[in-house]
Formats: sequence, C-alpha cells, structure tokens
Amino acid sequence: MKFGYFDDVNREYVITTPATPYPWINYLGCQDFFSLISNTSGGYCFYRDARLRRITRYRYNNVPIDSGGRYFYIYDSGDYWTPGWMPVKRELDRYECRHGLGYTRITGERNGVEVSQLAFVPLNYNGEVNQVVITNKSGSEKEIALFSFVEFCLWNAMDDMTNFQRNFSTGEVEVEGSAIYHKTEYRERRNHYAFFWVNSPIDGFDTDRESFLGLYNGFDSPKNVAAGKPTNSIASGWSPIASHYIKMSLKPGEKRSYIFVLGYVENPPEEKWERKGVINKKRAREMQQKFIDDTCVEKAFQELKDYWADLCSKFALESHDEKLNRMVNIWNPYQCMVTFNMSRSASYFESGISRGMGFRDSAQDLLGFVHQVPERARQRILDLASTQFEDGSAYHQYQPLTKKGNSDIGSGFNDDPLWLILATAQYIKETGDFGILDEMVPFDCDENKKDTLFEHLKRSFYHVVNNLGPHGLPLIGRADWNDCLNLNCFSTQPMNPFTPADKFEGRVAESVFIAGMFVLIGPEYVELCKRRGLSEEAAEAEKHIQNMVNAVLTHGYDGEWFLRAYDHFGNKIGSKECSEGQIFIEPQGICVMAGIGVKEGLAQKALDSVMKRLDTKYGIVLHTPAYTEYYLNLGEISSYPPGYKENAGIFCHNNPWIAIAETVIGRGDRAFEVYSKIAPAYIEDISDIHRTEPYVYSQMIAGRTRWSFGEAKNSWLTGTAAWNFVAITQYILGVRPVYDGLMVDPCIPASWDGFTVTREFRGSKYRIRVENPEHICKGVNKVIMDGKEIEGQVLPVSPKESEHEVIVIMG
Ligand code: BGC
Ligand code: NOJ
Repeated sequence: MKFGYFDDVNREYVITTPATPYPWINYLGCQDFFSLISNTSGGYCFYRDARLRRITRYRYNNVPIDSGGRYFYIYDSGDYWTPGWMPVKRELDRYECRHGLGYTRITGERNGVEVSQLAFVPLNYNGEVNQVVITNKSGSEKEIALFSFVEFCLWNAMDDMTNFQRNFSTGEVEVEGSAIYHKTEYRERRNHYAFFWVNSPIDGFDTDRESFLGLYNGFDSPKNVAAGKPTNSIASGWSPIASHYIKMSLKPGEKRSYIFVLGYVENPPEEKWERKGVINKKRAREMQQKFIDDTCVEKAFQELKDYWADLCSKFALESHDEKLNRMVNIWNPYQCMVTFNMSRSASYFESGISRGMGFRDSAQDLLGFVHQVPERARQRILDLASTQFEDGSAYHQYQPLTKKGNSDIGSGFNDDPLWLILATAQYIKETGDFGILDEMVPFDCDENKKDTLFEHLKRSFYHVVNNLGPHGLPLIGRADWNDCLNLNCFSTQPMNPFTPADKFEGRVAESVFIAGMFVLIGPEYVELCKRRGLSEEAAEAEKHIQNMVNAVLTHGYDGEWFLRAYDHFGNKIGSKECSEGQIFIEPQGICVMAGIGVKEGLAQKALDSVMKRLDTKYGIVLHTPAYTEYYLNLGEISSYPPGYKENAGIFCHNNPWIAIAETVIGRGDRAFEVYSKIAPAYIEDISDIHRTEPYVYSQMIAGRTRWSFGEAKNSWLTGTAAWNFVAITQYILGVRPVYDGLMVDPCIPASWDGFTVTREFRGSKYRIRVENPEHICKGVNKVIMDGKEIEGQVLPVSPKESEHEVIVIMG
C-alpha cells in the first residue's frame, strides 16, 4: 500500500494523506542551519550542532508522536485548524505534502480556506523561511486569523531536557515590531540569539507558552487560538515561544501571502548590545530585509532548486527502469548529502543529543557525497584526521560545533583508522587533488602535534599492523564496524556499557572483518606511497597486505564462508561450529570486495552461502541463526531480540557490500537483485509494512525471525545511503573514478540492453552510452571516446569544461 507517489519531474515525493505509517520527514538546509520537517510540519531546527546549538525544542518519543514544530493555526469564525493536519487534527477537505530537495510544501484546505506553506532554508542563510499563502476558495468573504507558533529550546538540548530547576528561570525574550527575539543566556556567556519574524504588521503576539496554550492544553488546543485572540504575553522564565497573530479579511478568490523567518544570529562580543539590556538586532534586521516580499522568496527558492539540479546532474542516469533512474538521479544522492551533513546526529531516531559526527560514519558517508561538493569532503577529511591520536587510533566521534573528539566516548574501535584511508583515496580519485596529502593536520586537535595527512594515513595503516592477534588477524578492540560485537567487554550489569572505554586492550579477540578491510583499503595506501616515490615503503606495506591475505585464507575461512571473528578465548564466531550466529554478512562482503579467495573459488562459495542462508525477500540479514540468549562473550549483539538490529535484522548498510562483491565475481543479475531488494523506490508499494519514508533508506528492517518482518526503523542517517550509491553507480553501472581517470566497468543484469550515464568528472563532462548487444553481465569489448577507440577501460582526464561522447560496447 502507498501513501503518496513520486513526482520525478519536480524531484518530489508527494504524500497524499497526513496519517502516514510513521512521520515522514525531510531536511532543510545544507550548510550551517538545519531543520527537520515532517509531513505534518513537526520537527525542529539547529545551528551546526543539534546538541549544543538547538534553536527550537522537540520532544522525542512524545505522545502523540511528532508533537511540536513550526505551526500555522487558522482561526475561522470559531473553528480552528492546521494545514498539516497535526497538531489540531481537524479533518481537512484536501491535504498534500511535497517533500523536495531541501524544501517542503504542505497544503491543507478546510471550509473554503486553502493554506499552502513552503518551508526551506535558503542558500548561505542562517534561517528557515516559511511562506504561508492563504486563499479564500469559498464564495463568500472570510474573516480569518493566523497564529504562528514555534517553541524555543534553551540552546543546549541536553540541559534543556534535564535541568529544569535552572531552565524555568532563565528564559528571556524581546519583541520589536513583527519580530520576537529569543535571548536566553545572552546576558551572560552567549553571543547568539534567535528570532521569529513575519514580513507584515501583526495584530498581537505571544511569547510565553503557558499564556498561549493554557497550562493544561497541548499543541492541539491552544487556549488563545481557540479564543481567536492573543494575550501579548512576555515570557519571563518558563518556556519562551514565538507566536504572531494576524487578522485578515479575504474576498472570494483573494489570497494573502506572509513570509515568516526563523533566524539565528551571532554577534561579535563587542557588538552584543544596542543599549543596556537590549540586544543588537542589526544583523537580524538585515536577514529580515532579505525576505520582505514574495519576489525575494521566489528568487531564493529558485536558487535552491538550481543548486540541487546542478548537484543531481553530476551523475545522471538514463535507463529503461524508472525506479532506478529515480534512485540514482534524485533520492539516493539527496540522502547522501543529508548523511554527510548530519552523520548520525539528528533524525527522528537520533535525538541530536547522544551522537555527534561518527569517525567511521562520516568517512563512509563521504564516499557517496564527494562528487557533489568535493571541497566540503576535503574539509571533512581534515577534521576527521585531526581527531586521530598519534598511534593511529581515533576518537570515535566529535562534536561539529567544536570539532573536538568526544572524550566520554573515546577511541578503541579498531576499524576506524582504515576508513580514513578509504575516504581520502576516494577524494583524490574524484578530484586528482594529491595535494591534500601534504596538509599539516594535528593529532588529537593539538596544534603542537602536527604532521602531514599522508603521515596520518600511514599511522592508520600501521595501527592495524601493530595490533595483530594470535592468528595474525587484527585485534577487534571495543568493536569493529559492528558496534555490537563487543568481544572484550563482558558486561554483566545494566549500568556497564557494552563498549567500555577502558576495556579494549584485549590481545586475543580478532576481527576477520578488519582483515578484509585491510586487504581492501591497504592497496590504496600502497598506491599513494608509490605516487610519492616511496617505493620501499610501498613494498613493505604490500608485504603486510599479503600476510593478511594469508592469515584470512588460513584462519579466516570456515569451509563455505568467511569467519566473522575470534573471541576473547580464541573461539570462533560466525562458524558452522557455533550453535547460533553461524554465518555473518560483513566478512563475506568485505573479503570478496577485497578480492580474497576469488581465484580459489572461495569467494563464490561465500556469496552462495549468503544467498542460501542469509537472504530473505526483504533483504539480507546480518547473521543467522539469531542469538536467542545473552552471550557474555559477544556483548550487545545478543542483547537485541532475535531479528532486530545487529542481532539478525536486515541491517541495510552491508547489503550493498554483497552487491559490490557480486560484481567482483561478475554476477550482475544477483548484484542488481541485492541492490533493488532494499532500494526505497522498489518497495514503495509495501509502505504499510515498511513504514518509514519510501524515498530514503533506513538502517534496519526487521528480520525473518520477527512477526514484524519487513518493518523498517531508523530512517535517513545510515551508511546504507552512501554504500548503495557506490554500489549502483561505481560497481553495477560501473562508472568509477580512479586515480588517472574514469573507469567504465559495468556489471549489470544480462537482460539489459544498456544505459546512458552523464558524469561530471574533474571539470569535464562524459556522456557514456553503454551497449550490451550480447546480453552478458560483465566484460567490455570496446570503448570509443569522441569517435576514437581507446585502449583499456579508463577514460582519460580531459581539459576542463570539455564534453565527451563515449560508447562502451560490452562483450
Ligand atoms: C546500535 C548500533 C549503534 C550503536 C551506537 C547500538 O545500540 O545497535 O547500531 O551503532 O548503538 O552507539
Ligand atoms: C550504526 C553506527 O552508526 C555505525 O557506525 C555502525 O557501523 C553500525 N551501527 C553497525 O553497528
């Protein structure tokens, strides 16, 4: 069952009922100011950091779900309602929500009044714009009042939700004209404030939540809206809000447009005050002037649309498959941008409080994003590397506002360092910017401890080499990619974390997954050494990689698939000898991607085992059989009920690894099957089962051991986005940047006749038509560029701004 449809021409998903199976959200903003907005206008916004600089308040796990947002209440002769249906839930005569790239338009109609709300964060602007257009569609004149509403957060979202003995006494506002200023803590150590402004005179306002709602009312029935008049309240402590009150009378057919701006302003310390106690509003007024009328909105909105059209054109697919085109051209790159911006911080499943930027998460997100805005990817690499320690290990997370590693989480996740090499390699392949390797980057953000980025990568590589276990496989530390495989923790008390910061020194538990990563990513380090003329170091590194291949073949293969790990006692995990958790997806994906066991036929066997044992109709589960009890030697993985999350859920992130692995052994049909099984556009029809947004990937889908099999959770912020973009564009369609050009090496279903990709690469444009006359999966017979046959499959780097016609004949 569906709850809307894709409008590909406008790059939108159109939701036709407000009561979706879960709030279906969108993100506004792609630089510093961000908002989350649901299909009923719920959500919140923040500046850079969802924890430290939260602008509006949001209550997670609320009842009813998704209460709180930017709301525009209509008061119409005793009746009142909201165009997004929530929170008032008055029945609408018409409802539509269009989530587009960086904007959302919600339209609701009731009793002859239509309200259309367009929300977006303009480029280079620290604010959310809401253009609210009210049209009288009835045959008679209407007297209407509009109440806007937002609730401020007292900046630090964690304190805001906990420290009420202080919070209830600190809230302060100012009102001037049509602007309401939130200035809590500005009198002391903050030099930032927020404002909510409208481009028209107002007939009243409220800034105190209790005065507006009534102490015992919810957002569904604000006292002042019900009464049709505001109280002009000035907040003093308690909970500051901003609500404008605007009266209007509309003739039949008449429409009125109002532009609301929710903005964020920082003042230099010496320019904080206009006069004693009065904040300096100069910068706010300048921001407001930018949106004084509808032409300003149209212009800024068009700029945003053009920006996205440009980003989407960097990799454009024309194929026979409408769903595939929609994923590759619109929704997958869009989600890649969002994951790059947010890491795992703020979604409807991530509270914005508990996690900042993840080291491995951001490094992987970058893989799907780097072609969009390479300069931003470059900065991210340098930021990540700055949180690395001198021994090559790294903080697991950092806060975006401070860019400092989170010491409460610390380091010890032994896969982290390698992801930095992969991200850097991918960035260089995209841009040709080898210069990044010479950037001086601190360790542990300490400016006194600096070295080149290249040296950081070397430390990453040797962090693995220096931390091998009894079988010559990498020590796992607190965990590898699978956060929940906690082999050194032995947590017996609910208060004890599964990945304690002080318990990763175990020198026995080893990860076959990190071994696969090392063999996959190590060669990038080798290549970079060679290009820097360090041939001895390259040869040395190659030896380490070969040793690792041998270690995996000797100690990391279990007969029909790759083992997952060795535990603290040296026992196998992910082996046929285990009673539960016999086979895991991760090592099958990563080891085959790395090419281990391909020539010996072991790779194919492993992937066949995946198909036989782990595959389901909704995707590939993480392992099987699910753990049915808590295993002290395994940790959090066995804490989840069987079939959820890392305990045998369909953990989408590593499904594309299998798709890529299948292309390594040339099975294009199977690669595409794996890809399309979890790709949102292909499962839109089961939105009632899947429940999360049909336009983006979710982290997890309930596995076959659950009655809720097929139900997804944790949408948006997942490495699934980046990896699927890589799988489809670089390995299935096969257009992938390499150090010296653009490789074309498709691995597609045999039934396909071909496809066309337009790829912008290092400043020039390649229009690549792939033809598959013999209906094979893989293999290229001929590459013709600008009418001339070229040797090999790598399109050479071309002069900037040039355009090229390429024909690739498979065979
Ligand atoms: C989840 C993981 C997640 C981790 C983050 C665990 O509870 O299962 O998916 O990465 O928490 O700390
Ligand atoms: C989600 C985390 O963000 C990611 O870093 C991790 O790899 C997966 N969970 C698997 O545990």
